[in-house]
Amino acid sequence: MSTLDSFRLDGARALVTGASRGIGRAVAVALAQAGARLALTARTGEALKATAEQVGALGGPALLVPGDLAVGGEPGRVVDQAAEALGGLDVVVHNAGILPTLPDGSPLLAPLQLLPQAAWDEVVAVNLNATAALCRHAHPHLAASGSASLVLMSSVAGVIGAPLMEAYAASKAAQISLARSLAVGWARQGIRVNALCPGWTRTDMTSFAHTNGPVNDWLLAHVPLGRWADPQEVAAAALFLASPAAGYLTGQALLLDGGVSVPDGGLAGIPKPPSPFAVS
Ligand SMILES: NC(=O)c1ccc[n+]([C@@H]2O[C@H](COP(=O)([O-])OP(=O)(O)OC[C@H]3O[C@@H](n4cnc5c(N)ncnc54)[C@H](OP(=O)(O)O)[C@@H]3O)[C@@H](O)[C@H]2O)c1
Repeated sequence: MSTLDSFRLDGARALVTGASRGIGRAVAVALAQAGARLALTARTGEALKATAEQVGALGGPALLVPGDLAVGGEPGRVVDQAAEALGGLDVVVHNAGILPTLPDGSPLLAPLQLLPQAAWDEVVAVNLNATAALCRHAHPHLAASGSASLVLMSSVAGVIGAPLMEAYAASKAAQISLARSLAVGWARQGIRVNALCPGWTRTDMTSFAHTNGPVNDWLLAHVPLGRWADPQEVAAAALFLASPAAGYLTGQALLLDGGVSVPDGGLAGIPKPPSPFAVS
């Protein structure tokens, strides 16, 4: 197999969660471009169909398994239906995730001491408990594959301090921990497990920031590359982790954050550093 071909997933049976929009939709398209056969899940059936149309134009039809992963029993049903229809599972990209939200759907950014317990519980239910349930149910199918990859969509927030986003950050850190433990535990069963940690990516989840000029400018000043990630760039990394190209890569947290997590990376956003840091 050529190096370039090792990025392909021809015939691989893949489940993508949170595939109705944003990063998940881009991941579904990328895996389909690489030749994978897909099962897609999210709560919103209509939006899932729109993803399926994009995927279908690239190859075979995608199986749609709508469901709310935060509801008990749903992760198992979704995984088992996907595996049954595809004849097994070789790749799972578990991407579904949430920020705490206000009733109108906008993000609830508040320090821990002001965050209602119900908001904490909601985030943990989706980002952590559903992740554990999904991994548990995916395990027998991935073990049967013989050469499988599980990718958990974490966040740079899971490795840096993220004030006002403590619930989200803690749940994303837990996903990284889970990926590491599962990677070691499942390695001899032919299952690689990695966490992918994007930085600020332009999606519905972050529209509160990229549609607000002052917030957008302040935020990008703290991103060394000085711009938002495109969902397609995150999808490319997910494809890499899912593919044989990453065959010796397991238990890692891959940071795709424009440099945000580099110590003192924030200095890149300061146009003229004061003395004694100024260099001509
Ligand atoms: N955007 C960023 O800057 C960024 C940065 C780092 C990490 N991430 C992570 O990347 C992932 C995708 O983020 P995104 O920006 O693409 O967000 P998004 O546009 O809000 O999409 C989130 C996806 O998750 C699904 N989802 C949410 N709750 C669900 C539930 N209870 N059951 C099933 N599906 C559910 C949504 O579908 P339905 O609403 O149809 O259910 C949607 O497909 C998340 O895990 C997020 O934490 C995002």
